[in-house]
Amino acid sequence: MIKIKNLKKFYDNRLILNIPELILETGKIYSLIGRNGAGKSTLLNILAGILTSDEGKIEIDMNEVILCSQEPMFFKGSVAYNLIEPFKLRDEKIEISKIREFLKIFGISELETSLISTLSGGEKAKVQFIRTVLYNKKIAFLDEPTASLDKKSTALVEDIIVKMKNEGKLILIITHDYEQALRISDAIFEIDEGNILEKRGIYVKKN
Ligand SMILES: Nc1ncnc2c1ncn2[C@@H]1O[C@H](COP(=O)(O)OP(=O)(O)OP(=O)(O)O)[C@@H](O)[C@H]1O
Ligand SMILES: [Mg+2]
Repeated sequence: MIKIKNLKKFYDNRLILNIPELILETGKIYSLIGRNGAGKSTLLNILAGILTSDEGKIEIDMNEVILCSQEPMFFKGSVAYNLIEPFKLRDEKIEISKIREFLKIFGISELETSLISTLSGGEKAKVQFIRTVLYNKKIAFLDEPTASLDKKSTALVEDIIVKMKNEGKLILIITHDYEQALRISDAIFEIDEGNILEKRGIYVKKN
């Protein structure tokens, strides 16, 4: 569960976020929508501990958080290196068979030994999403994970996100694809003028 209370974030005296209260429960998918520059990534980065807020309180288990950022971040090296090294650094084991399984699912098995720098934008997004899933954290923040993906890959990502939810995970996803939000979300929030508003009623998915 995540609890946010009286969160405020300013950039150069400009109030970007102003959220009196927000509670997110485990085992649910929440979509965050809003115009460019509304503050969506800022909120996700604050929740993931990458940025600090100026005011307010957040209750969250930081050990259980993984962020799939809007701008992918990679080590210099191959796809395999980027999927193995983060876990090595944390003394965690990752099965190469598991990595290969995901590469196959996304149709990029042949890129296993390719340098990340040679990948297309969509291929990079796939590798970053695979890495996020491999972390197997209870809370996943996904910042526009399908923005550069084709239709088939987008559907794969949506299937995996729903599976994560069914495993009891909390997923907060930023998207500009309203249809996608309708397809997968338990609730849809919009950031507007810094505040976060729940789009209730017909927008909330019925199980
Ligand atoms: N380091 C910074 N210094 C000053 N202003 C910033 C900084 N980072 C972000 N901003 C501003 O804060 C606002 C919110 O940015 P944010 O990245 O959260 O938007 P967003 O909702 O994710 O937009 P998009 O849909 O384009 O990704 C923007 O107007 C942006 O220019
Ligand atoms: Mg953003």
